[in-house]
Amino acid sequence: MQISSPFDLVLFGGLGDLARRKLLPALYMLDLDQRLPAGHIVLVSRQQMDADALAQWLRQQVQPHLSSTVFEAERWQAFCQRVHLHTMDAADLDGYRAMAAELSGGNNRVFYLATGSDLFTPICEGLHQADLIDPDSKVVLEKPIGHDLASAQQINQAVESYFEESQIYRIDHYLGKETVQNLMVLRFANSLFEHQWNHKYIDHIQISITESLGVESRAGFYDHVGATRDMFQNHLLQLLCITAMEPPARLEPDAIRDEKVKVLRALRPVLGSSISEHVVRGQYDAGVSEGKPVPGYREEPGIDAKSHTETFVAAKVHIDNWRWAGVPFYLRTGKRLAERACEIVVHFKEIPHSIFPLQHKNTMANKLVFRLQPDEGIRLMLCEKKVGPGMNVRPMNLSLNPANLKQTRVPEAYERLLFDVLSGNATLFLRHDELMEAWHWIDPILRGWDELEQRPEPYTSGSWGPAAATLLLAKDGRLWDESS
Ligand code: BG6
Repeated sequence: MQISSPFDLVLFGGLGDLARRKLLPALYMLDLDQRLPAGHIVLVSRQQMDADALAQWLRQQVQPHLSSTVFEAERWQAFCQRVHLHTMDAADLDGYRAMAAELSGGNNRVFYLATGSDLFTPICEGLHQADLIDPDSKVVLEKPIGHDLASAQQINQAVESYFEESQIYRIDHYLGKETVQNLMVLRFANSLFEHQWNHKYIDHIQISITESLGVESRAGFYDHVGATRDMFQNHLLQLLCITAMEPPARLEPDAIRDEKVKVLRALRPVLGSSISEHVVRGQYDAGVSEGKPVPGYREEPGIDAKSHTETFVAAKVHIDNWRWAGVPFYLRTGKRLAERACEIVVHFKEIPHSIFPLQHKNTMANKLVFRLQPDEGIRLMLCEKKVGPGMNVRPMNLSLNPANLKQTRVPEAYERLLFDVLSGNATLFLRHDELMEAWHWIDPILRGWDELEQRPEPYTSGSWGPAAATLLLAKDGRLWDESS
């Protein structure tokens, strides 16, 4: 699909971490693949830079995030010509008025708010007062939207007074990952899996997003947010929804979002004393990561030496509906863990009885693994006969790896999502009610931690997180899937 109308993409937080690491590289890739129509990219920042300094910034801060195999000097130069900087403060109305002169006047105008969500209201107000919003404009809101349920409600209400719901794209880049879409195809295009996808055949499901990096250069943002708001409230709950939702009636944005909302509404509330029983939070101490000694979270530059912000969170979650009754979902995410990986692992129930000698039935339980990173692919673990005499059983993997099979580049999540915004496809973006339901479930947990003054449990950098997370599964006679 090609987008025909020229666009203006106005990126607030234009010189920020997300812009340089993800958004600008994704726009370059779309341009390289000739999927980006004519148009301007306006980076909005308080920082001032002339054209030469901007070109240098693009070279030093963005170019290193492109793989050398996709870098073409001429195309890069042409791409950089499309990028402009607009210096202003989010609270400065004159800045918005001056912005109008930099826009093409076309009707595909996208305002991408890659700033803290406390700025969303003043930015929308400024755009409105400078008359920059028309009925075809779109606004993209980066997560986390709000700090809790009340602030999320306030921010959404404010944004919705300037934009219709159909113009609002609440982004969660995990939904743009190839394997997440493949999960939907696998579930809803194959009767083989869908028949097994319930409490009769599934023992439990684990969803993990583990990172080996620490807080890096984002201390200012992260210390106010923590792992629950940064990753759990959005990425992990969205992966849970896609894994657990009922088949939507159509492949249409609202049909899919209706099903995701039903999952969120069916989450069993975690309240009061069950918080510490079902949710574990941790904070990394010094240790060794990828062979190098690394400091603890509280020793990182810019982090409060007494910070109680969690860098790890794990939870046991129940979905109270017919399909999932009695099936626990174990979710976890953390920084400075043993390795970077993201997997959804569906553990099927063990066979009722093993006829094979020396083989306990629980070692023969099938697993279906959706791996989102670092490499994307799907693997079904089955049992087969070990070649040779006797009747010995061993595990084997049936693998589907999109990159290996087709020898094609798997596009980054932001490439797909930015293209979807420019072409007006909201399927992979969150609707108002989804966001609110997610906050509704998380809010009592955050409040409970505050009220009980519960502190995160320390864990060593380079480990798999705090001991309490291991215990969370061990109490149920289970283990986390720790490496693949
Ligand atoms: C972002 C979080 O949404 O996702 C970061 O703010 C995190 O803290 C990042 O590192 C992980 O994304 P990915 O695609 O690299 O797994």
